[in-house]
Amino acid sequence: KREFMRITVIGTGYLGATHAACMAELGYEVLGLDIDPARVASLSEGLLPFHEPGLPELLRKHVKSGRLRFTTSYQEVGAWGDVHFIGVGTPQRAGAGAADMSFVDAATTSLARNITKDALIVGKSTVPVGTTRRLKSLVRENKRPGVRVNLAWNPEFLREGFAVVDTLAPDRLVIGVDSPEDEKILRQVYAAAVAGGVPLISTDFETAELVKVAANAFLATKISFINAFSEVTEVIGGDIRTLADAIGLDARIGRRFLNAGIGFGGGCLPKDIRALQARAAELGADRSMRFLDEMDGINLRRRERVVDLARVMVGSLSQTRIAVLGVAFKPNSDDVRDSPALDIADRLADEGAQICIYDPAGNLNASRRSPQHNYVLSTEDAVKNADLILLLTEWDEFKALTPEGLSAQTGARKIIDGRNVLQAKAWEDSGWSVASPGRRFEANHLTNMPPSEQLQLSSGPAA
Ligand code: UDX
Repeated sequence: KREFMRITVIGTGYLGATHAACMAELGYEVLGLDIDPARVASLSEGLLPFHEPGLPELLRKHVKSGRLRFTTSYQEVGAWGDVHFIGVGTPQRAGAGAADMSFVDAATTSLARNITKDALIVGKSTVPVGTTRRLKSLVRENKRPGVRVNLAWNPEFLREGFAVVDTLAPDRLVIGVDSPEDEKILRQVYAAAVAGGVPLISTDFETAELVKVAANAFLATKISFINAFSEVTEVIGGDIRTLADAIGLDARIGRRFLNAGIGFGGGCLPKDIRALQARAAELGADRSMRFLDEMDGINLRRRERVVDLARVMVGSLSQTRIAVLGVAFKPNSDDVRDSPALDIADRLADEGAQICIYDPAGNLNASRRSPQHNYVLSTEDAVKNADLILLLTEWDEFKALTPEGLSAQTGARKIIDGRNVLQAKAWEDSGWSVASPGRRFEANHLTNMPPSEQLQLSSGPAA
């Protein structure tokens, strides 16, 4: 009945733009909608307003072939599409942990009002459990008589920096449906991936919604777990990387997402664990998700730790010149949403430090958010007048830094390796003072520090 499917994608942010371009790559005709005319104009010219490896090429290819178009008109989308994906944002509500559902609700209502032929609406956004069922009534109230419009949920697990691969070749596909007909439609949409061996899990709405938030809560917990051990090794000594390697070799645990550092940030993990707690509380299950509050706390303490280390390394932060290498929330991204690196830079500036930032992709977004800092275009420019250097995002070019190379560019001999990516021993042998999260900071590496603080820092029982 539906050999030829026309696909629309509502919302052309990170998720929507990637999904639209990837659906075109799979051979579908795709129409993307955004309420922002500037964004639609830019995408229609094949220009992507954010950094994502491989995506600009896909976008240009399919805009050129005519397979991928963009519009601001719900009327056009509703008359044209067979399957409508919703990929709008669910940001954290101001002053609360809960998700702001206004964009999802508005998109669903507008779709329902404008759909003029049988169609399936498929939500991809990360939403509180129970949303699909609630949106079904919204669709029922708003749809035109005589057309069949149903709803399904198909959460998205893509990582920034790997958005295209994660979309075209995901670990798994999850669909939440309440009718065999809708399942059939979605199996057809994803037929190529399934034929290529991607497992497709078809389940109910609630499970599908929960899979997404549970996965993110688990990942956040894994990161906070190792960072909690960091707090222990910082006091007693021990090597947090070796600890992670050793427990990670247990296949039941796994080494990935056990990198201790300055904690998780970005547009997903922090807001998703807060939204999950808020939703659980609404459902009367607040106790079940209370551990996530602790994970959030561990995560935020990592930022304070770096500020403390900086203060201790230079004595007083006031007027200290600090070079910050990396402000994106992770490498290969220009995203600074809830970036621990930028937050640390802001806190240091609040204490009077002069911050000079270089990020290979994040400078522009960071300067919009935190214009008080100085932004430069190379490591060399960032470090040349610095008293202290902070490596806060593990871009390859920072991982490749050597004490010899950096010593030639700066008089500073103090570095905080926020991501545990440098070989501290080699740096110390070259006369550098190195501090990093998860590593006991030996007071005898310090200069300018009052004895009372030395005592506190090496606060093992023997100190
Ligand atoms: C995440 C999920 O991985 C993805 O599946 C989901 O769809 C969206 O949220 P993303 O936000 O792109 O993706 O970033 P991710 O690679 O997961 O990193 C999240 C944060 O955790 C980053 O700030 C990263 O630096 C930090 N992190 C990650 C650690 O501190 N240690 C680790 O071991 C791994």
